[in-house]
Parts: sequence; C-alpha cells; structure tokens
Amino acid sequence: MLIRRPPGFALKDNDVTPQSLYLRRREFLAAFVAAGGTLALPPAALAKSAAQNDFAALDATKTGYRVKGPLTPWEALTNYNNYYEFGTGKGDPARKAHKLITKPWSVMVEGETDKPGTYALEDLVDFNALEERIYRHRCVEAWSMVIPWVGVPLGPVLQKFSPNSRAKYVQFFTKLSRKEMPGTFWPVLKWPYREGLRMDEALNPLAFLAVGIYGRVLPNQNGAPLRLVVPWKYGYKSIKSIVRIRFSETMPETSWNMSAPREYGFYSNVNPLVDHPRWSQASERVIGSRSGFGGALQRRDTQMFNGYADQVASLYTGMDLKVNH
Ligand code: MTE
Repeated sequence: MLIRRPPGFALKDNDVTPQSLYLRRREFLAAFVAAGGTLALPPAALAKSAAQNDFAALDATKTGYRVKGPLTPWEALTNYNNYYEFGTGKGDPARKAHKLITKPWSVMVEGETDKPGTYALEDLVDFNALEERIYRHRCVEAWSMVIPWVGVPLGPVLQKFSPNSRAKYVQFFTKLSRKEMPGTFWPVLKWPYREGLRMDEALNPLAFLAVGIYGRVLPNQNGAPLRLVVPWKYGYKSIKSIVRIRFSETMPETSWNMSAPREYGFYSNVNPLVDHPRWSQASERVIGSRSGFGGALQRRDTQMFNGYADQVASLYTGMDLKVNH
C-alpha cells in the first residue's frame, strides 16, 4: 500500500472528541440550548455532529460495542481517507467523492444463494433497526482511529439471502463508474475494488454494515451509502460503496491480494507479531492525537486482532497466522 506524507491539517489534542461527551451529546445539546448557546462546552465539532444527527436516538452505550479512548474527530475521519477510486492521496476522497451518485442504490446478490437478485438498499438494511457501535479502525499503514459507526450487523443481512451449503466465502464489490470515480482511470488496483471473507468470519457478530458515522449519513469519502466494517482486520478489508455480494465455494479474489500477494493476504487480521514485508505492525499512530502545532501523533501498541481476540480468535484455531496472513 502506498505510504503518503501526513495530511496537511494538524489536529490538536483538544480536537479529539472525548467519548463520554459524545455519548452524552443529547444531554449536552439540551444544556447548551437551555443556556442560550453561551456555554463554553461542548466543543464546536461535537455540537456540529450532534446537531446534524440524521439517525434518531442511537447510542453505543445500549449495544455495549464500544472501545475505550477518545473518538477520532469528524474532521480527521472525513479528510484522511483511503478510497483509491478517487485518488491515492489521503485528501483526494474528500475533494473528489462528491461526484459519486449514491441515490438510488441497489446491491446485486449472486452465486451460491437461493435468493439471487438485485435488491434496493432499503431491502438490505432495516433503517428502523440501526445501531451505533464504537470500533477501533486499524489501517495496514500503521495508523488507527476510533469511530462511532451506525449500521446493522452483517450476518443477519447475509442470511436473508439464504446462502446454500456450498457458500463457504462471501465476496463484495465496490461500484465502478469511470465518470464518477476519477481514480479508476489509473490501474493502481484491479477495479472494481473487491474484498472477501470466509462465511464464519462474515457471520461473526462483530462484522458490521455501516450506513453512517457520528449519527450522520456516511459521507461519500467514507464509503456511502453502504460499507463493510470488520474491526479485527486491517482497514482495507472494510470495502466501501458496495454494489455486489457474491457467495462462493472457493476463496474469492481480493484487490489488494491480487496487486501484491506477498504483502496483503486473504485474511489480513490485525496482528502485531506479523510484520508487513516493508514495515512493522507492532504499533500504530493514533490519528487525531497530535499534541500542539507540528507535534507528533501519539503511538500505541497494536493489539492482537485489534483488541477483539476474545470475540474472534476461535475462528483461527489451528491456523498458522504467519502463513495465513
Ligand atoms: N474501499 C474501496 N472501494 N476502495 C478503497 O481504496 N480502501 C480501504 C478501505 N476500503 C478502500 C476501500 C482502506 S486501505 C482503508 S484503510 C479503509 O477503506 C479506509 O477507510 P476510511 O477512509 O473510512 O478510514
């Protein structure tokens, strides 16, 4: 994966949204309004994201899916992205993804399923049953974020399509539109972008389909209108703007593995003990944690399976995770 220079913006420590404040955002907003808007708190970014909530009454405290630590600020989440269909620079998606048409949106379901067909986004995702989950997001480039996602668990969505007994894997494809996605002019990856999971991984309760972040509809650069979130794997498994789901008996192709198989395996589990051939995976820079102007980002040790070992380690019992990286 291409390594780029740090982004042009420098986020200060106090730009990081404390999780406790975000989770109590409605309370804070009420207090803010009651005080005639003169309160010094909440921070502007918090007020903005809470005030513009698109999804009603979501709260990660209810689902219990929340990691410790401050949230990555909205500005970093939406300006420091990997979405190569819009360019390989971290700021390219924020600048160019507005061209992506996300409405109406449908997803083709095919392969080893009893219910193949083309489904509207609203048939896939029950917008009345959305939940919020705060997951750590770890990129193979050794940086991480903490993100309040909005969406639904992946497993029940896949089961709606009755995958048959031959369905051992599931593959996802991103939309490919040369007109809307200027980066696809360059053959930096095999387009359309594709990713895959083993079925038992896809059915793990942690695997999630996101339609929003911070209580708001997903910005295009973050994968609107529908993206995968697999928090124990490197970020590139979390494919954006999904238009096709294919169930298969054999291990499917994945874009990064096709481009550099030695560097990017099918499993791509976050693993501090298995280095990328060109850099260490033992630690990560925390995006949004810069201390002072020009200061360094905080570093933290990377955890096995990104901290989700209790929930997913059993999926890999008996496997050599160096070979199956
Ligand atoms: N999905 C598509 N379609 N195209 C991409 O280039 N990049 C991946 C993943 N999903 C990518 C993609 C990588 S490398 C990462 S780290 C995450 O998206 C980044 O997600 P974020 O920009 O929301 O942080």
